[in-house]
Amino acid sequence: MAEYETHQFDVLVIGAGGAGLRAAVEASAAGVSVGVVTKSLLGKAHTVMAEGGIAAALGNVDDRDNWKVHFADTMRGGAYLNNARMAQLHAQEAPARVKELEAWGALFDRTKDGRILQRNFGGHKYPRLAHVGDRTGLEMIRTLQDHGVHQGIDVHMECTILTLLKDAGRVVGAFGYDRERGRFKLFQAKAVVLATGGIGRAYKITSNSWEYTGDGHSLAYHAGAILQDMEFVQFHPTGMVWPPSVRGILVTEGVRGEGGVLKNKEGRRFMFDDIPPLYKDQTATDPEEGWRYTQGDKAARRPPELLTRDHVARCIVREIREGRGSPHGGVYLDIVWIKEKLPNAAEQIKRKLPSMYQQFKQLADLDITAEPMEVGPTTHYVMGGVRVDADTQMSGVAGLFAAGECAAGLHGANRLGGNSLSDLLVFGKRAGEHAAQFARDHAAGKVNPDEVEATAKRALAPFARERGEAPYQLQRELQQTMQDSVGIVRREVELSQALGTIRQLRERAEKVSVEGNREYNPGWHTACDLRNLLTVSEMVARAALERKESRGAHFRDDFPGKDESFGSVNLLVRKGEDGEMRVERAPVRELPPELKQIIEEMK
Ligand code: FUM
Repeated sequence: MAEYETHQFDVLVIGAGGAGLRAAVEASAAGVSVGVVTKSLLGKAHTVMAEGGIAAALGNVDDRDNWKVHFADTMRGGAYLNNARMAQLHAQEAPARVKELEAWGALFDRTKDGRILQRNFGGHKYPRLAHVGDRTGLEMIRTLQDHGVHQGIDVHMECTILTLLKDAGRVVGAFGYDRERGRFKLFQAKAVVLATGGIGRAYKITSNSWEYTGDGHSLAYHAGAILQDMEFVQFHPTGMVWPPSVRGILVTEGVRGEGGVLKNKEGRRFMFDDIPPLYKDQTATDPEEGWRYTQGDKAARRPPELLTRDHVARCIVREIREGRGSPHGGVYLDIVWIKEKLPNAAEQIKRKLPSMYQQFKQLADLDITAEPMEVGPTTHYVMGGVRVDADTQMSGVAGLFAAGECAAGLHGANRLGGNSLSDLLVFGKRAGEHAAQFARDHAAGKVNPDEVEATAKRALAPFARERGEAPYQLQRELQQTMQDSVGIVRREVELSQALGTIRQLRERAEKVSVEGNREYNPGWHTACDLRNLLTVSEMVARAALERKESRGAHFRDDFPGKDESFGSVNLLVRKGEDGEMRVERAPVRELPPELKQIIEEMK
């Protein structure tokens, strides 16, 4: 084998967002050596874009809240396809993880009596999101990073992992390259934690940053892990729609939590038109009641703008399709109207939503305290990911763990806003703890040089080809296909066509060529990312084709209702022995009686 820069760790964490850093902190605290590989720079992970807050039943703003209500909300939001044990652990442990973050230095907004302030968010029965203005993810990363660096974690920045290495069925490391100089790096590890986030860059319009190319999903799949729930992709109702260069950038649900309302071009609050029966009892029937709710009136019900994201996104699409949209193809999100209610509204908006104020001012030359925003749905989150054990976060492949967005189970068919940051903390910690335990219990495995050489050869192949297509062209075509045919509203004919296009793109991807050398070469980076993007796109399209019903974030125009034969089924995706992708049905694990009882009581 050629000589490669080689590093050895007990635990290797791939990804330096909330889940990766929390896993690294925990593993390091357990006394094992920890390496973190990040595609970007430390502190720039996509978690910093999470704005609204961390969901945790602290009960600081409404003392009726507790873990059972949070658990029941999460299960209802996920259409009961969630891994109930994960939902239970998440609801029980999130408050402790938030308080721990505070003890490590995170500066949360406060209630008048000095406790952590919590705001309203869609699908949460009570104000539950601990937040730092609309910069919660940034504060989380800052805190975890400071804490982790002082624990001596070894960080490898701007490094892309190309493959996981295995020995006798167990993961023993990873092989990748340093993006700046283009040199290969070999990481040997007794346990590996995947914390690479999501897949949003498979779509044209997304709130996700450039790193979100499904790397962890794809690495796990090719290493033999099972993935589940890949048909469930969340389209956040409110992304920017104008100007075109910023289309898709997130407009936090916090705007609606602070009283922002959705209107069509006729000025009508269309969200009152269609309230799903499941949420009728919890939803305000007039604007006055909705406003009172946002102001903390415990007797009032939540405004319909705070229904679950799948529903709000589909209502927005309906308005746009039926010709009642805004000039740039969105609808209006209006927080200016709260001036009728609050004398100091403009100040309050700037104080509670400082990033939103700056974002619109700088990117769209619009003052959100004076004019409504134009917004529309944007690809935001994938509920699907690596199937893991609820308690340990280990996948079906020994030594391979996954946490955060690249793992599946907690959110079922749809995630509630704010449950992502708490997911990262709760399951990042668990993954780090159990990966460290695994590393202590196992000796280092053996790296197969043939596996390494084959990966290096495959990665360098585009340099040797002449006059092949440019990888960007393929990426663009894939993103357009996913946007048009595997988006918010799906149909069999389009999904089948998308699968055909993905197959052709995979063949073309084998022939792309790149120019220049290996030093910071974005064309080459895109060529390497294509394998992951194509793998995750195929997973989403195949699973979406298989689920012939509408549930949670998955909406089939040709099967608009729920089909009970899918009511307690997770779809699993795995690589068959012939190398082809397989989708299988698996029953959702039976709820233990005590959890069933909680759900019944909360109904
Ligand atoms: O709207 C938001 O601030 C997004 C939060 C989330 O996806 O959890």
